[in-house]
Amino acid sequence: MDIASSSQKDKSQTWWKEAIVYQIYPRSFQDSNNDGIGDLKGITSRLDYIKSLGVDVVWLNPIFSSPNDDNGYDISDYRNIMADFGTMDDFDELLAGMHARGIRMVLDLVVNHSSDEHEWFRQSRSSRTNPYRNYYHWWPSENGLPPKRYSIFDVNNDAWKYDELTDSCYLHYFSVKQPDLNWENPELRKEVYGMMRFWLDKGIDGFRMDVISFISKDIDFPDLGFESEQQYLQYYANGPHLHFYLQEMNKEVLSQYNILTVAEGAGVKREDALNFVDPGRHELNMLYHFEGTDLRNSTVENEIPDPRFDLPAFKKIYSGWDNLYSEKGWGTIYLGNHDQPRMVSRWGNDSPGFRELSSKMLSTFLLTMRATPYYYAGDELGMANVRFNNIEDYKDIATINKYRKLEMTGGDLSAFLEEMKEMSRDNSRTPMQWDASDNAGFSNVNPWLKVNPDYQSVNAASQDKDPKSVLNYFRQLVLLRKKHKALIYGKYELLDKDNPKVYAYSREWGNEKLLVLLNFSRSESPIQLNPKWKNSSLLISNYYNDPSPDALRPFEAVIYQMK
Ligand code: NOJ
Repeated sequence: MDIASSSQKDKSQTWWKEAIVYQIYPRSFQDSNNDGIGDLKGITSRLDYIKSLGVDVVWLNPIFSSPNDDNGYDISDYRNIMADFGTMDDFDELLAGMHARGIRMVLDLVVNHSSDEHEWFRQSRSSRTNPYRNYYHWWPSENGLPPKRYSIFDVNNDAWKYDELTDSCYLHYFSVKQPDLNWENPELRKEVYGMMRFWLDKGIDGFRMDVISFISKDIDFPDLGFESEQQYLQYYANGPHLHFYLQEMNKEVLSQYNILTVAEGAGVKREDALNFVDPGRHELNMLYHFEGTDLRNSTVENEIPDPRFDLPAFKKIYSGWDNLYSEKGWGTIYLGNHDQPRMVSRWGNDSPGFRELSSKMLSTFLLTMRATPYYYAGDELGMANVRFNNIEDYKDIATINKYRKLEMTGGDLSAFLEEMKEMSRDNSRTPMQWDASDNAGFSNVNPWLKVNPDYQSVNAASQDKDPKSVLNYFRQLVLLRKKHKALIYGKYELLDKDNPKVYAYSREWGNEKLLVLLNFSRSESPIQLNPKWKNSSLLISNYYNDPSPDALRPFEAVIYQMK
């Protein structure tokens, strides 16, 4: 008798819920033509490696024509491939190579803004009467100063840029080279839907939608009087017509394909998430939230490497999101991506004694929650933050522009550089570490961003041969998730919730019940297990043996199956 089925009946089973998504930052994955920049042919050459991981979907960060002010998040032609990355033929070959191996491909859809070098913007700025004028948001000078809007990458955080040519300002929530598109304009929306169909008809399997929560603006541009960045982000995420646009996009495009869609939920609060992913609303499949990765400034000091990291708060967040989707909708889970520092450095401990253990522990967490895991390339090797000493080594616009702003305002540059060693986005953008040869096997020439010097010990080639490596542990976990549906669909129950160091939960599906125990600290941590678990069998352990009955070793991770 299927004991869990009653509570799960309304939860349909679908490929994208069962998938493990592997995220590739193309610029940093594999260079095939020795220009120091990763490219599509490079990814194609590594498809057997990707297949060997057992992942089902690859999400590629933007691969479209771009002047690279923000590494491809500033697109100048949505229907072409970035010259650095290759040609459309290279793309077709990559897609065919993935499909031949049963791997699906998801592309980044970046339509809150384009590049200022996109033809639409060139036309739009050329005159006030150009037919493309309304593809963007303009504020004419005769209306006085535009109301304050916050820009995330601008040196002055000013989202309006004055353009002499037509004596007007244009809106840019990100850099001055990323003008925001005007979704109020049905012509623009039609162009976007046509472009989406172009890629879907080529056979791609879905979209990750960049800051899609920001696309709708109140074009009366009221004065807001906000003081914090957070206030702006939440305001940006709740534009008046956002859900109308998403429903229209669903009707016009998404509903006609069997695809994965995931919103980058910047500024989206938990209480708003179902508006995106409740299947009855016909918008998107999934959304990824920032509540976990934003967790900072806790006052609880514990022995977890980052003293700001409060495990009970972390558990509360992830349990809350699980609970949100217990009736409808479906979650996502990630701890690292191209906008975050490396997972092991941020949430584990990358010192030599703990890097492997804590990487494995964090992967265990990601692959045992009721949500689709979005797993960032390199984390399966336990790649760590690069921690550059000099601003010249950084290439990320966010890091560089914050530095420039501090320089202009006389801020503390060395404190900032210390902070960037932990938080800069470039920490996770260093080239993939394939082997111990020069440049980690990424390229024969100096890469666009320096390789992490630890590549001689942390690389795929050496880990491939070691059955107890981080890489092979990840592969084992993937197999486990595929074998035990309880890990995908099973009911999640948080255990021992106030334990400051251990995250424990059970997953239950049909007749199967699994227990996951994760020590998030570098010290031995007591656990109190319900005696009913005493006779369970061990499915996986990052120490490769049973824990003691009443304590977990540093960063220990185990999964038990109840007999
Ligand atoms: C979110 C993307 O993940 C990030 O990398 C990018 O800089 C901004 N959106 C702007 O597109």
